[in-house]
Amino acid sequence: MNRNPCINIALIGLGYWGKNLLRNIVQSKYSGKIYVCDTDALLVQDAFARYRLSGSYTDADQIFETPEIEAVVIATPTSSHYELARKALLAGKHVLIEKPATTSTAQIAELISIAEGRKLTLMVDHIYLYNPAVLKLREFITDHKSIGKMHYIDSTRINLGIYQSDVNVLWDLACHDIAIINYLVDERPVSVKAIGRVNPLHGMEDVAYLFLQYDSGLLAHINASWASPVKIRKMILGGEKQMVIYDDIEPTNKLIVYDYEQISENDEGKNQLTDYRLGNVVMPKFELREALTNVVDGFYEAIRSGLPPLADGNNAAEVIHILECAQQSLHLGGETIAIR
Ligand SMILES: NC(=O)c1ccc[n+]([C@@H]2O[C@H](COP(=O)([O-])OP(=O)(O)OC[C@H]3O[C@@H](n4cnc5c(N)ncnc54)[C@H](O)[C@@H]3O)[C@@H](O)[C@H]2O)c1
Repeated sequence: MNRNPCINIALIGLGYWGKNLLRNIVQSKYSGKIYVCDTDALLVQDAFARYRLSGSYTDADQIFETPEIEAVVIATPTSSHYELARKALLAGKHVLIEKPATTSTAQIAELISIAEGRKLTLMVDHIYLYNPAVLKLREFITDHKSIGKMHYIDSTRINLGIYQSDVNVLWDLACHDIAIINYLVDERPVSVKAIGRVNPLHGMEDVAYLFLQYDSGLLAHINASWASPVKIRKMILGGEKQMVIYDDIEPTNKLIVYDYEQISENDEGKNQLTDYRLGNVVMPKFELREALTNVVDGFYEAIRSGLPPLADGNNAAEVIHILECAQQSLHLGGETIAIR
């Protein structure tokens, strides 16, 4: 167990998301010396001019060769995660990788094995697991079970761009929904079906619809798109006793919980008709804190305690396995794929 409260850390990748990570790393009281790396020298210069940093590089190998660096954050394009994370772990560094962690279950399995063998922390930035609204939502579903048996989850995650160069919209956006749903419900889907449309200019799916089925009867639907004129981050969850709307775009009232009752009436004894009547509506209060701040602090906490973080390698492997099955379904034009 590391007794020093501050950890020397290096961030690889200073693009769109790396800049957000760097801001949070700089702000964290647990950060020791901070190093940055990007193959783009201008981004490195810019970061160095903006913050007090201990070193900057344009070649990630220099980070792996610096013994003083204890932990590495990888925010480069997805296809480069595996190789960089593998080198970092083999060099004895704790690793936080951006989502999706890797492009295959074989790759994440290897990273888990190296990290376990060397007693290193391997964490993945499944940021919504550190989002206070999602944590609150889990209370309704798993802890208090006030929502009752889950019937359906309908998630919409759409916006205009940003097109990732090396993965399609499933891996980029639906990855978040799968991670959230896996966290919210204590069961895993038994099958997946996905359809999408390939953007001819990009060569990959920029619109995708994914359907997950569960043994309990739960149905989940995810709509992921980089081709929408509006940004929507909305999940509707239907249970036996409550329905919840989780809207991550809402600045404060991100969660609305509807009590309802299901009314059955006989239509002259012929058909059993079902109706719904809404009851109380509650907007639960919870502390609003930037999820990425929680991610960075969660990484430090896992390193210090030696305990697995909430979003550990195994958690990421489950998400990647579902994405692989969904990808297979996409290629087969929406065929149902069993998830084993
Ligand atoms: N958790 C989230 O909510 C979230 C949000 C956005 C992006 N991401 C993830 O972050 C990662 C990066 O996405 P982005 O949008 O910031 O991409 P980006 O293209 O804006 O930035 C990637 C940066 O990595 C640098 N880079 C590439 N290869 C490198 C290497 N070998 N060594 C050093 N630097 C290298 C590039 O020069 C670039 O500056 C992706 O995996 C993406 O899925 C996560």
